[in-house]
Amino acid sequence: MLSLLLSLLAPAAVLAAPCVEFDSNFNLYVFGLNGKDVNLGLQSSWASPTSAAVATSGRPPFTGTNIQCFLSQYNNAIYILGADNANPANVYIYDATGNSWSMSQVTAAGVDPASQVSVLDHDTNVFFSLSGGNLYQLDFGAITNVATGPTSWQAVESPSFQTTGYKPVMALAQNHIHFLDVPGNTAGEANIFVIHFAYFQPEVQSYPAATGNTFPETHGQATSFFDPNNNVQQQFAFIPDDNSAVYIVNVENNSTIPLTGPTDTTASTFAASTSALVQLTSAGSLYYMPFDQTNPSAAVTWSHITGFGTAATGSPTSSAGATNPVSRSGSSSSAVGPSSTSSGSNSNPSAGSARGGATGLKVSSQTVLALGAIALAACFFL
Ligand SMILES: *[C@@H]1O[C@H](CO)[C@@H](O)[C@H](O)[C@H]1NC(C)=O
Ligand SMILES: *[C@@H]1O[C@H](CO)[C@@H](O)[C@H](O)[C@H]1NC(C)=O
Repeated sequence: MLSLLLSLLAPAAVLAAPCVEFDSNFNLYVFGLNGKDVNLGLQSSWASPTSAAVATSGRPPFTGTNIQCFLSQYNNAIYILGADNANPANVYIYDATGNSWSMSQVTAAGVDPASQVSVLDHDTNVFFSLSGGNLYQLDFGAITNVATGPTSWQAVESPSFQTTGYKPVMALAQNHIHFLDVPGNTAGEANIFVIHFAYFQPEVQSYPAATGNTFPETHGQATSFFDPNNNVQQQFAFIPDDNSAVYIVNVENNSTIPLTGPTDTTASTFAASTSALVQLTSAGSLYYMPFDQTNPSAAVTWSHITGFGTAATGSPTSSAGATNPVSRSGSSSSAVGPSSTSSGSNSNPSAGSARGGATGLKVSSQTVLALGAIALAACFFL
């Protein structure tokens, strides 16, 4: 019995959250969900996705706990950071044109792969990461879509703002890195690093909302909408950890538009294309919100994407997030798929209205794991 417990706990302890990203043609991919990667195709087919096979040879093990995925739009390549506990700084490259994987050897050189938060600059193909209160860069300008010789993170400088206790929120637009939730700022404010001048702007920039609320001073996830003509991003979405709203920040006219938040308030990661914001919950459920960059204030509805690959066959009837990671770690037959209607049972946290309802779910995937382990241990000792 003890060995059963340990065998259940061991995989749970290294369970990594899956991640979601697009290629340059805006096919949607889910990586590392129940040990698989899947290409769901274009937005027009998501009502009934026809999953295409993704190469398995050389794929990341998805053993990391701080995984981030990025599209290099010029190169039709997807970069995955933090996916390999054994080589935590290495970057896995998925070449979407050739449907093949390679691994770029990277030296951390002061960066903490377990906690770093990164963005990928659109034009230069350079990653920037805030780690331990310092800004670092990793230049993939020459690496593009297939790994070449080893490379290393390099220190850039320390921010002009206070980083003590700061859990970074970084958003990219117009070759500027926007730091949200910086200690001491108020709602709607961001600190800016101007990439092409390697310059921390001393002034805080404001992004007020003409109607409704601007983004709150809180931790969350950010992702940038891509330009259909392969130019720099001009708008990004910020989603607070409670998923209570989506804030569209437009860096051209310094404004914010609040939109309806996801229906599923589970801890999530997000990716954006030219015309959609996609949510992947830590339990593996997938949703999207269509978005028109030329009409950003249009009302949006979130839709559940189901029926993709083998990952979609599970149908957990309980909404207890704590049990999902554990069952995911078991054999493939217990795979937890994007579920059922259970995730829709949370009241719709439309902007600014349902904050309280989401509070209980404001947990990280690590917390969910810990709860899963505790729940299992409790079962064992009862
Ligand atoms: C946005 O803010 C920046 C910095 O304050 C300013 O230079 C720029 O003119 C503003 N843009 C508009 C359209 O107001
Ligand atoms: C900023 O630009 C967007 C996109 O064109 C537009 O919808 C929004 O109304 C503008 N906001 C302000 C405050 O001008």
